[in-house]
Amino acid sequence: MAGYRNDPEIARYQGWDTPYSTADANAFIDSLFDRHPGEPGCWYQFAVTLAQSGRLIGDCALCPAADGSSLAELGFTFARVFHGSGYAREAVGTILHYARQQLRLRSFLAITDRRNEAARRLLETLEFEESADRDIIPPSGKLREQEVLFVLGKNAGS
Ligand SMILES: CC(C)(COP(=O)(O)OP(=O)(O)OC[C@H]1O[C@@H](n2cnc3c(N)ncnc32)[C@H](O)[C@@H]1OP(=O)(O)O)[C@@H](O)C(=O)NCCC(=O)NCCS
Repeated sequence: MAGYRNDPEIARYQGWDTPYSTADANAFIDSLFDRHPGEPGCWYQFAVTLAQSGRLIGDCALCPAADGSSLAELGFTFARVFHGSGYAREAVGTILHYARQQLRLRSFLAITDRRNEAARRLLETLEFEESADRDIIPPSGKLREQEVLFVLGKNAGS
């Protein structure tokens, strides 16, 4: 995890700074142990591994709205060597399915920097739509100037 999070290209549009050390990754992982997926207002982190080898290739995060509605925000990060191979689409698609079926979440938001072409493309592939509504306040907070909001599902963000 520290390996791919320490890559400046991966961190470029993300909420952490590089250098990102093994100690940073350990502290982050330690902070996650008492969390459960679907807790309102709480980010839950999913490790994404290759089925055959178990190798960690990325992580995805899900945060249901604090008000207990069926809205949630998503985030995702994959090691650069595995980009463009469809793993992100498969993993985020699987988490969306799980969130709908098991957590009864119905609508989803994702924020990305407007220059982050790969993230925008991934979200569009998953049928998210860009929203022009700058007043929507996602679970992670108000949109910054350079960010765009993508929405999926009925009444997302309303
Ligand atoms: C965003 C990210 C997860 C996308 O991963 P990915 O490996 O491109 O995803 P996939 O391989 O599943 O591809 C999804 C689609 O995006 C396309 N794509 C990949 N890289 C692209 C790029 N640089 N520009 C445009 N499209 C791109 C793929 O071709 C694919 O399209 P298709 O379904 O039409 O074939 C990855 O770039 C990443 O981890 N970036 C760093 C972290 C980050 O910025 N996360 C997003 C924060 S909001």
